[in-house]
Amino acid sequence: MKVSVLTLFPEMIQAAVGTSITGRALSAGAFELETVDIRNFAVNSYGKVDDYCFGGGTGMLMMCQPVHDAHQLALQKSPGPNRRTIYLSPKGPVFNQKKAIELSGLDHLVLLCGHYEGVDQRVLDEIVDEELSIGDYVLTGGELAACVVIDAVARLIEGVLPNQEAYSKESHMSGVLEYPQYTRPAVWHDRPVPDVLLSGHHANIVKWQEMASLMETCRKRPDLFNQLKLDADAYAALASELAELASEIMDKTADKNID
Ligand SMILES: C[S@@+](CC[C@H](N)C(=O)[O-])C[C@H]1O[C@@H](n2cnc3c(N)ncnc32)[C@H](O)[C@@H]1O
Repeated sequence: MKVSVLTLFPEMIQAAVGTSITGRALSAGAFELETVDIRNFAVNSYGKVDDYCFGGGTGMLMMCQPVHDAHQLALQKSPGPNRRTIYLSPKGPVFNQKKAIELSGLDHLVLLCGHYEGVDQRVLDEIVDEELSIGDYVLTGGELAACVVIDAVARLIEGVLPNQEAYSKESHMSGVLEYPQYTRPAVWHDRPVPDVLLSGHHANIVKWQEMASLMETCRKRPDLFNQLKLDADAYAALASELAELASEIMDKTADKNID
């Protein structure tokens, strides 16, 4: 897969994506990253790429022609027909894991980063297939948003993580959050790891992980939990887990009151 980023600040993209896991994956050729500097297509020799908005208002808007020409350059070296141009924008639907999975199947992902007040609507209408936001807030530019999208998509590409299992059980892959995880030491600050995880009993561990995953989702993301279609057995097991948790909390509260 190739990712092309159209930006006024290519160094931001190169620095973030070139670091750690995605950086190693780039060096190993698991995916390709190209940054196209929109300023190389400025409309004059002073590097002009933005101008005042018609109708007034504060701030500058990125002009059509430099963005269009940068996009044309990216398309010239497209690795395959399965391509999408996405404008990072606070107006788009919010990016999620489902979208990351969808984008990871493309041959060529082209990301357009706005800056200042944004980008002239006419070039967006001409080149953009869809808009994506990374959340309901406004950033100064699309570069950080592009890095978020690239990171989430790249880790789903073969060869970026050690194997598929590294991400298939993670939060949001199947509508639930991942179960809590622990590493050595087995007891830390009087907090023991759940016994079952030290038992070596694989089936029991899997059962614990499934239940802990549901509990985590129920407690932290009731909106996701409400969308799950659980069978009666799962609800019964969850109810008993919740009852046990409630009794533990009541015991701890009682202990504190005695002290
Ligand atoms: C200051 S913002 C422009 C905001 C625009 N005037 C508006 O009110 O919708 C500049 C650029 O940052 C990027 N950006 C800002 N917030 C974003 C978000 N939540 N998700 C993705 N990109 C964002 C976009 O590329 C945008 O063109």
